[in-house]
Amino acid sequence: MTFFVDNEIVEKVRDASDIVDIVSSYLPLKKSGSNYVGLCPFHNEKTPSFTVSESKQFFHCFGCGEGGDVVSFIMKRENLSFPEAIKLLAEKVGIEIEEKEPKDLIKTEEKNKGYEINKEAARYFFNNLKENAKVLDYLYKRKIGNKVIRQFGLGYALDSWDALYKYLKGMNFKDEEIYRVGLIGKRAKNEGYYDKFRGRIIFPIIDTKGRVIGFGGRVMDNAMPKYLNSPETYIFNKGNHLYGLNLVNKLSDRKRIIIVEGYMDVISMFNKGLNYAVASLGTALTERQARLLKRYGEEVYFCYDTDKAGINATLKGIQLLRNEGIDPKIIFLGDYKDPDDFLKDNTIEDFEEKMNSAYNHVEYKIFISKEKYNTEETEGKIKFTKEIAKIIKDLKSPIEQDIYIEKIAKDMNISKEAIEKEVFGNTKKAKGTTQYKKKTIITPVNTSLPLASLTAEIDLIKFMIFDRDYYEEIIKEIAVEDFNSLECREMYNIINRLYEDKEIIYEEQIREEIMTVENMDIQLVKKVFSKELKFSPNNVNHMIKDLIHTIRTNKLENKRNEVKLKIEEMEKNKNKNYLEEKLFIELCMELTNLNKELNLIRHEEGR
Ligand code: GTP
Ligand code: MN
Repeated sequence: MTFFVDNEIVEKVRDASDIVDIVSSYLPLKKSGSNYVGLCPFHNEKTPSFTVSESKQFFHCFGCGEGGDVVSFIMKRENLSFPEAIKLLAEKVGIEIEEKEPKDLIKTEEKNKGYEINKEAARYFFNNLKENAKVLDYLYKRKIGNKVIRQFGLGYALDSWDALYKYLKGMNFKDEEIYRVGLIGKRAKNEGYYDKFRGRIIFPIIDTKGRVIGFGGRVMDNAMPKYLNSPETYIFNKGNHLYGLNLVNKLSDRKRIIIVEGYMDVISMFNKGLNYAVASLGTALTERQARLLKRYGEEVYFCYDTDKAGINATLKGIQLLRNEGIDPKIIFLGDYKDPDDFLKDNTIEDFEEKMNSAYNHVEYKIFISKEKYNTEETEGKIKFTKEIAKIIKDLKSPIEQDIYIEKIAKDMNISKEAIEKEVFGNTKKAKGTTQYKKKTIITPVNTSLPLASLTAEIDLIKFMIFDRDYYEEIIKEIAVEDFNSLECREMYNIINRLYEDKEIIYEEQIREEIMTVENMDIQLVKKVFSKELKFSPNNVNHMIKDLIHTIRTNKLENKRNEVKLKIEEMEKNKNKNYLEEKLFIELCMELTNLNKELNLIRHEEGR
């Protein structure tokens, strides 16, 4: 059966289909460098030459020369036509598509007409701007230069009731056609049309294909409304686009992307040479926009206005992105109201500094709670503790929970036990039914992840998966209890099990299994699978030894710190009873032994 799917659906399905996920459902892939490899499904082979690039969303077989994107993979593998492949992919990723009759193709022509009208309008607004010194002056006063005026195609709508309408009519566009793109309104009693945008600076909204899909317009005084936007039309769906994405698409290296609130924020950033900022179009962030952000930046930063509305929008946005598997960072600009405001007084380097010290979502939530309550007073402190307890409770990783409990205890001068009680409740802890054994959790000295030993654990796990020989070597030296991270322990067990009846194992299998285990820190697991092992065959043994060494040393050090703390605590008590005195001496002996052991290990290292 032939049917047609429109381009928007095609794009949506493409956006949502990760080539590594899709291909993995047909054949096992193994990570190799920055790519994945496997046995080619299109020709017979014994050694893998079929390569999949996650970053490029592309496959290529060095054996038979087949290659393409996720859609062409499905077409070849399933022997399907393009629309059929899109349909299958849509099913796989859970997107519903309506099948269309050929007559719907007319719609494409109608749409093109809409884009054409908008383009002419944008051109007209742009020319107006050049001829209106006072408008240019307004922009120059806001430190907007000619380069970005051109880049963004800024314009001006004359303060007239029908200048644009007449202009477009002069180009032979029909009333109804102009009306449908939202540029004009109908006068009362059907007496003709009027321009919607009058006496406003114009911000054309352009999609990544370079089509003008709508407009924003700002007054130059204090009139209301400050901004006017095109209504939703048959070619403009606000939730599907981001202002500035057309330029990000062209210019950014896609390492980072910043989401801001306003048109002027985006423009100010580009004006100062930062080419990876976008704005949502005056509405709350949508799922589709979240996916776009994910696609256009490895790291996503929020930099909304610093007012209450901005904070609320940020909190909602964080949730939305985390649902898409992205952990966004949050830039805080202190007393400045928005990025545009900040850049008036500061350089882009200053901004980048802010970006480098951006909060992660937990830090941000804690920061916001702290601002909300007066934590100098007991009552404020209690409310604050209750609120952040909820935040910490929601964290999936016990390690992360521990880190933040520790940090807050220190920062706020609240006892660790009090926070733990708030987070875990009394009963759970007393019965010892917490999701993890407290003892097994490391107490890190600083609060930044990843910890050196966690990194070592992750690397060892990767080596175990990578090659059976490495695996054998590692399990001789390191037992599952030697790992601190719960996730790594789980993976260690899974790997053991898989090697029981297989010579070669694949990351995919471990990933699949671990995802079914409860209470895993998904981010950490993802980190394991996205991390690249860098080694060459002749230094690998040395590397593995070092990793084992790091883990052992760390384990001992943690133990020693624990004992040391206990001793310090007991030292405060000058009148110890007999039992306490005995315990004190035992602890001191333990400390001496631990120190000896650590010295020995360090000595070995030095040899
Ligand atoms: P400047 O005052 O020019 O610096 O603009 P701003 O971006 O700082 O404005 P603000 O923070 O007030 O608004 C942020 C965004 O919200 C704007 O870019 C618009 O997209 C939208 N917005 C603001 N005011 C209005 C309004 O009155 N109506 C509509 N529809 N949207 C608005
Ligand atoms: Mn502003």
